Parts: sequence; structure tokens; C-alpha cells
Amino acid sequence: MIEKTFRDIYGAAPEILLRPPGRVNLIGEHTDYNDGFVLPAAIDRSIEFAGRRRADRRVRAHSLDFNDQVEFSLDDIQKDAQHTWSNYLRGVSKFLEEDGHRLAGADLVFGGNVPREAGLSSSAAVEVGAAVFWKRLLGLELDPVYVVKLARRAENQFVGVPCGIMDQFISALGRQEHALFLDCRDLTYRRVPLREGIKIVVCNSGVKRALAQSEYEVRLNQCRQAVAQIASTGLAVKSLRDVEPADLETARDALTEILLRRARHVVTENARVLEAVKVLEGGDVERFGELMNASHESLRDDYEVSSKELDVLVELAWKQPGVLGARMTGAGFGGCTVNLVRAEAADAFAETVRRGYHEALGLTAEIYICQASDGALAA
Ligand code: GLA
Repeated sequence: MIEKTFRDIYGAAPEILLRPPGRVNLIGEHTDYNDGFVLPAAIDRSIEFAGRRRADRRVRAHSLDFNDQVEFSLDDIQKDAQHTWSNYLRGVSKFLEEDGHRLAGADLVFGGNVPREAGLSSSAAVEVGAAVFWKRLLGLELDPVYVVKLARRAENQFVGVPCGIMDQFISALGRQEHALFLDCRDLTYRRVPLREGIKIVVCNSGVKRALAQSEYEVRLNQCRQAVAQIASTGLAVKSLRDVEPADLETARDALTEILLRRARHVVTENARVLEAVKVLEGGDVERFGELMNASHESLRDDYEVSSKELDVLVELAWKQPGVLGARMTGAGFGGCTVNLVRAEAADAFAETVRRGYHEALGLTAEIYICQASDGALAA
């Protein structure tokens, strides 16, 4: 399909095809930028890329999702305020050149079925896709973790969104039928097999993540302030990753009420991820589900990044037969919930939640029963 589109636009066959996936985070929310732990999975929704080399230094890119086209020179890569979808590609290309990789001009088409602004990391998929596209087109020797960091750098420094590293990491290094347990401090990771007979069901609230960026920055700064206040009591902490639950008691008087709650979310969430990995590896999916539920409550009450729509979806999910756990996923303020559901109950779950959500709020949820999939560099 994308090959044919490429031919229709550029009149020749593409040399490179790839499909970096979106992701869903099972547990470990708002922990990545605190040097903590996360457990995401890549999903079977992706951004397809097709491209070929050109003889000059021009890049022409066509977005299927925006039905729009741009052209730029590799010798003068600027942020584009109008065609903002192209900035992920521009940023990745600029930083590769800055790092000493000489690129060649290219014609590209990309687009896919990761919903935008839904908390499933379509932008990370585009960034990772752009990096892997150049790697494969030009045969560049790029270390996988370098690719991940490059993709994040494009988002942080070129696009200007101060995200952590989770989304780019999983889009590059996810693996079929596995979640990925990542230590965001030293970037060591381990793949954890998902259990047979259990489905990952994603419910898209249909509400775009309004506020997400500004409130995300507020949370980021609150975490930094909490670390400074905790450190002022004499505890040797560099990030909330270093804080133990008992430290929060010790430092209680040094923290404002709001910073205590923000810090408590991150500290307890890190502990939940560690336990979640252990119980998933041991096959205790019921406990895994309880940890997801506790994660939601913590995000709702302590971190305050949920929304009415996400809470309605999660509370509906908690009442359904065959549900092991349900929580909001991603940055919050709209977007999606993630649910672990016994396979035989998944279809009925989807139907009932869709109906209940419509009855409660008059809104339509899209529901995706997902397979954990390979990242763009998994092979
Ligand atoms: C967004 C960011 C990630 C992470 C999550 C919250 O998806 O891009 O880095 O911080 O929010 O867990």
C-alpha cells in the first residue's frame, strides 16, 4: 500500500520500507524523567515509511496523515512552524549531520494508524522511523541506544517537548510478545514475556491531550523541586529514583503538601514497577493487575494527571469480568487507558466499555485489542 503511494507520488519504487511502532505503557508512569523504571510494550499500530535516495542534498517528504508535502535542504535544516509534522524528520536529520554523519537527499512517504495525541507515541514512532530510515538507506553503523537518544534529542531540542526516554526506547527496541523493563538511569533493559491467554486492550478516550504539555512541564519542575527539598534535609539524592518510601517520612517537613504527593507518586510507582516485573516473570497476573490499579489511583490522586474521561473508562473496566487491571497510560490529561483482560473476555469487555462510556459521557471510545510487537530495531 505505502509502496504504491510512493510510486504514485515519486514515479519510482522505494528502496527502504520500515514500520516503527507506537507503544503502550503497562506500568511506570511519569518515572522515566526521574531516572526511574518503566514497563512499556510496542504495539501493532505503526507509522509506515517508504523512501529512496536522491542524488542531491534535498529531502522531499510526504505525510499521508496530513496529506501534505515539504521539501528542505540538508545544508539548512530549520524548524517549520507551518508543517509541524515534518519537524521530527528535520530534527533527526539535523542532529545526525551535527554528529558527523553525512546524509544524502531522499524522497520519503510516511503515515500510519497510531492515533495522534492519544498517548500512544506516534511522534516517537516518527522520530525513530526517521533515524532508522537514514541508518538503513545509507548503511550507517549506529548503536541502538544512540538511535534512541537521537530520536529523543530531536523531540527535546528541536521540536521542543521535554519528554523522557521511554517512548523512543520502546519504539526502537520492543519485541513481539514481550514488554520491556527499562532502567531509565543507566538504560539497561530486559524483555519480559507476556503471558498467554491475556490481552492488552487499549481504550482511546477520544479526548486529545489538552494541557498535556504545559502540565507535563509543571510536573517535571515539581519533581526537581521535590528533589532539592529532600536533599536539603541531608539525604544524598540526585533524583526521585534515589528516594525510598521511608525517606519521604524523614523529609516530610521539608516538603510542601503538593510536592510530597508528587514525590510519593514517583517513589511508589517505581516500587510498583519492580514488583510488577517480578510477578509477571513469576506468572502472577492477578497481582500485576492490582499494581496497575494502584498506579491509576496514584496518578489520579497524588500526581493529578488523570481526567474525568480516563477515570470513567478505568472505573468501568474495573467492574468487567476477566479484567486483571486497568489504568490510564502515557502522560495523561486525555488519551488512552490500558487494560489487561483475559483473552476469552476481551471482546465482551470492549463492547461493554464502549457502551458504558457512551452512556456516561456521550463520547465514543475507540478500542484496540493489541499485540506486543517488534520495535524498529528489534530484528
Ligand atoms: C510521555 C513522555 C514519556 C513519559 C510519559 C509519562 O509519553 O513522552 O517520556 O514521561 O509521558 O510516563
